[in-house]
Amino acid sequence: MIKLHDLYFKPFISEKEIDTAVQTMVDGIAADLGDEVPVFIGILNGSFMLVSDFVKKYPKPCEVTFIKLASYEGVKSTEDIQRLIGLTQDLTGRTVVILEDIIDSGNTLEEVHRIFKNENVKQLIIATLFYKPEAYNKDFKLHYVGMEIPNKFIVGYGLDYNGLGRDLPDVYQLKTTQHMTNIVLFGPPGAGKGTQANFLKEKYDLIHISTGDVFRFNIKNETALGMLAKSFMDKGELVPDQVTIDMLSKEVEKNAGANGFIFDGFPRTNAQAKALDELMENKDSQINAMVALEVDDEVLVERLLERGKTSGRTDDSDENIIRNRIKQYYTKTAILKDYYADQNKYFGVDGVGSIEDITVRLSTVLDKL
Ligand code: IMP
Ligand code: MG
Repeated sequence: MIKLHDLYFKPFISEKEIDTAVQTMVDGIAADLGDEVPVFIGILNGSFMLVSDFVKKYPKPCEVTFIKLASYEGVKSTEDIQRLIGLTQDLTGRTVVILEDIIDSGNTLEEVHRIFKNENVKQLIIATLFYKPEAYNKDFKLHYVGMEIPNKFIVGYGLDYNGLGRDLPDVYQLKTTQHMTNIVLFGPPGAGKGTQANFLKEKYDLIHISTGDVFRFNIKNETALGMLAKSFMDKGELVPDQVTIDMLSKEVEKNAGANGFIFDGFPRTNAQAKALDELMENKDSQINAMVALEVDDEVLVERLLERGKTSGRTDDSDENIIRNRIKQYYTKTAILKDYYADQNKYFGVDGVGSIEDITVRLSTVLDKL
């Protein structure tokens, strides 16, 4: 992922794929033109890299020149094309091949046709490396197209976003979701996860997704997924991962503009962690970290027994049950710790101390993401 000005872009077309597309264009044009000596005309600024690579590959004599047109502002094409540098040579009777980096709305191409209307060239051939069919709204024939691409903003290989990105050898695509901070929050029972989740949610403006809450919500509101989940629970079976993932996906979609999410209670297995990675990738985002509150067993037991005295939760008053829950937590999460540690995304935070102290420790981790 790269950042240009305020926007994030993800890798889209590799240098190698571009090279192949350029070679295919060269081969096609060289074969069709035979012994004609063409004048290749690049449209500046975007086409400088294409023109350079193209003519180096072109196997026969040719001429090269440029015109300079400008139409783009930020990430949007405009109607108003400026002619910054025009034609500087007589092209009467010549075979002209326009080399464009990209054809989007076709406005620039329309201007090119206007420029050539009275030039009396032998033929005007249009070749473009990238072409966005969904955006194109003109009738001019495109004789050679390197690659058709979806109607999304790209940078690299000559193309820029407000001046940056032209120098990149690969092409990147604008991310539909901009930068998010997504964390998986972990902690054994009694570690103070709930308290800290509330704090993080406020401080970083994150959406707290507790899988338990999501389940209860879907079942209570009898959503399709809720009913599906319930059908398994009623049979005493585990709800399949895909159902849970679909519920989480809906939650993420509901909050598409969020700064990020705190996942709580999910994932619990390697397969779920992978599924969550895929889910976030489909949203053009990612899990940035697993943050785990680390608290010594004896402290946990003490805290939970204390809580059991007032909460009336029976599972908080039996020391054996408590120890068993803690043990289970470690057996299950050890795998996840490895999963995230392998990606350098595991952050253990000392969960012993005052609420404020722990909060500060968590913030130190989040501020670095
Ligand atoms: P059109 O006039 O809408 O066809 O757009 C053509 C010009 O807009 C290109 O020559 C580029 O300079 C610019 N452009 C179009 N799409 C993109 C893009 O996705 N990224 C960067 N520049 C673009
Ligand atoms: Mg251009």
